[in-house]
Amino acid sequence: SQKWVLMVTAQTPTNIAVIKYWGKRDETLILPVNDSISVTLDPEHLCTTTTVSVSPAFDQDRMWLNGKEISLSGGRFQSCLREIRSRATDVHDKEKGIKITKKDWEKLNVHIASYNNFPTAAGLASSAAGFACLVFALSKLMNANEDHSQLSAIARRGSGSACRSLYGGFVKWIMGKDEKGTDSLAVQLADEKHWDELVIVIAVVSSQQKETSSTTGMRDTVETSLLLQHRAKEVVPKRILKMEEAIKNRDFASFAQLACTDSNQFHAVCLDTCPPIFYMNDTSHRQASFLNLIISLVEKWNRAAGTPQVAYTFDAGPNAVLIARNRETAALLVQKLLFCFPPKSDADLNSFVLGDKSILK
Ligand code: PMV
Repeated sequence: SQKWVLMVTAQTPTNIAVIKYWGKRDETLILPVNDSISVTLDPEHLCTTTTVSVSPAFDQDRMWLNGKEISLSGGRFQSCLREIRSRATDVHDKEKGIKITKKDWEKLNVHIASYNNFPTAAGLASSAAGFACLVFALSKLMNANEDHSQLSAIARRGSGSACRSLYGGFVKWIMGKDEKGTDSLAVQLADEKHWDELVIVIAVVSSQQKETSSTTGMRDTVETSLLLQHRAKEVVPKRILKMEEAIKNRDFASFAQLACTDSNQFHAVCLDTCPPIFYMNDTSHRQASFLNLIISLVEKWNRAAGTPQVAYTFDAGPNAVLIARNRETAALLVQKLLFCFPPKSDADLNSFVLGDKSILK
């Protein structure tokens, strides 16, 4: 009969890079100029929930994002759909009496409904969670028996950073050597239990959509920034090794130092781009001051404490990601630094540094 619908729902958290991916060596295949490392958030927060369904009654592939229909005609969606479809195998749902063969999948259409529980395209890696979830849900629906790393290479075709959301915990995206991109995929460095004292606090300063998309930004950077070439060749390879070591040994001092420096270099590379990209200042003056203040306060706090307490990292949007070494530090961070968040006045801002709310007291 034409009446049946088969459905799968999946939930995928976003990830935050601590060694950043910025710059593609191949734009169509989404192959990066350097390896990157990220931490995947808890599934309860910042995540995408996607339901994929298939029915002989569907006359075309369709997708809704946060309840609004969006076009699937873009190359990125098409790549993901094509790659999963080509790996589809027989599905037999005995309860519903549905049998779908490998051949049927070529003709059947899917409907996709996806929800983000956080601002879309505001530099909070919504596409990372989105494409990872889409690829994972489709692979379950179509019974594509690929492991997470193989699926990550498919999610990469949707959005580079998406490949890292196929795993929890700490994840490395290996840039790979192959021109076709078969070895550009994600591997898990450590699972979510390995370093569970860490607390990640995200200050959403602005939920507005970012002005420069990462695709345009990366293209401009690759074409114009000499600093990027130096970063990709000389800096990141060594940093990746050190970061892997820091994660393995739960060495927060090294972890924080590497994450903060790498975030700063990523924004330096953006500034070194022609025309320059200002992700951290792409917001109101007061909010930008607040972000810059977070950096200097965390730096001062870490120095005053004698050993790093908090790491910061900023992606392609005006939001701060703060990683506290443990729960006590996270509580202090929220009470003191984010106490008057978002800052309402210049006096409010100053009170963090000088006044009675100062974190350095
Ligand atoms: O995956 P994209 O194209 O959204 O690029 C994301 C790039 C950064 O978030 C800035 C860094 C990273 O490694 O996630």
